[in-house]
Amino acid sequence: MKQGIILKGNICYAPENDRLVVRENAYVVCEGKNCRGVYEQIPQAYRTLDVIDCQGGLILPGMIDLHIHAPQFTFSGTGMDYELLDWLNRVAFPEEERYADSGYARQAYGIFAERMKKSATSRAVIFATIHTDASLILMDCMEESGLVSYVGKVNMDRDGSPALTEESAAASAAETRRFIEECIRRGYQKTRPILTPRFVPCCTSELMKMLGEIRREYDLPVQSHLSENPGEVELVRKLEPQAAFYGDAYDRYGLFGREGKTVMAHCVYSVPEEIERMKQNGIWVAHCPSSNMNLTSGIAPVRHYLEQGIRVGLGSDIGGGSSESMFKGVTEAIQNSKLYWRYVDSQAKWLTFAEAFYLATKGGGSFFGKVGSFEDGYAFDAIVLDDSAETYARELSVQDRVEKAFYRELDKTGIAMKFVEGERVL
Ligand code: GUN
Ligand code: FE
Repeated sequence: MKQGIILKGNICYAPENDRLVVRENAYVVCEGKNCRGVYEQIPQAYRTLDVIDCQGGLILPGMIDLHIHAPQFTFSGTGMDYELLDWLNRVAFPEEERYADSGYARQAYGIFAERMKKSATSRAVIFATIHTDASLILMDCMEESGLVSYVGKVNMDRDGSPALTEESAAASAAETRRFIEECIRRGYQKTRPILTPRFVPCCTSELMKMLGEIRREYDLPVQSHLSENPGEVELVRKLEPQAAFYGDAYDRYGLFGREGKTVMAHCVYSVPEEIERMKQNGIWVAHCPSSNMNLTSGIAPVRHYLEQGIRVGLGSDIGGGSSESMFKGVTEAIQNSKLYWRYVDSQAKWLTFAEAFYLATKGGGSFFGKVGSFEDGYAFDAIVLDDSAETYARELSVQDRVEKAFYRELDKTGIAMKFVEGERVL
């Protein structure tokens, strides 16, 4: 007998950029971990599966957060009166130092994972801190949440605060190996390690070289930051004069997508050569509009990336970003793109709702494989929204209800159910 579940309700997903599919009172079929498509009538082959009637609720793919710092959740929504480099030194680094204390990590990461579980996010790509033990605690918490995630122990062997700088490149690499080996030993089902050089200013080339070797040895994905802020880009130019551009400082060591999948956060100030390399190497861009506003970084040229065929997803970038809500991330991406169109480049058409929805689902989901859609063969990640408390003098179309859910942040109060890889987590 087949294992799975069928959800009945108003289904909405984006199989392509800028195309929302809305199916009213339809059925989405989950068999095992995978989606088997959306139907008006339940196909004969699936008649034995249980049906959950979502009572007219909205059924959407789970959201994908391509960039978030778990240790920064504690201070998210505070400390925004700085630009990136000052903010790191005054706000982010002092908090991250606390994770040397495993007791603190257990408490903070427990709260973080619980909040992620209650959010619309089904998968996330996460930074921890330099501390291996705390990073493993975060892995345990995420595994327990039921979400699928990549978690990285951060590497920093220069220019952090004294307590947040590892002793040497060799010590940082050795701890990274310990982290990976322990992840393998623990046999997580949903939580995987990802190599995480914080960004070029905090990583010597000696360390990058070692990380490149580790990447090859374990065939790991990579995450980092790229061309986020003018002061940071200038610092990289001074620190790494031999690099042709910022991203080249990663690429020289096999940490820029050429050999394995890589996600770079921000990409606000990428120069044409860097964009060309991102395209050639198949980089995923994590667009982080909330953080880019809070830290006065700027507006990433997302339209240009999409036109170039570069893969783009959205990141909350907690705690530069102030909310883990990917619904908010979707509307901020749209609003940012409108300011870009108005003030920077009138050739760069703003993002439509359908496009931003796609970025938050299938766009970012592609980093995990066939994820972020209700097409046959995609992982079954779904959220069910109950918007029955939202009443108006006239009836709304399903598409209007979906759009409202995002702009009015229904993910705060309206998530009735959540499934990840076919398993119910809420
Ligand atoms: N660049 C290096 N570290 C960080 C961080 O923690 N947040 C952001 N937004 N950018 C960074
Ligand atoms: Fe970040």
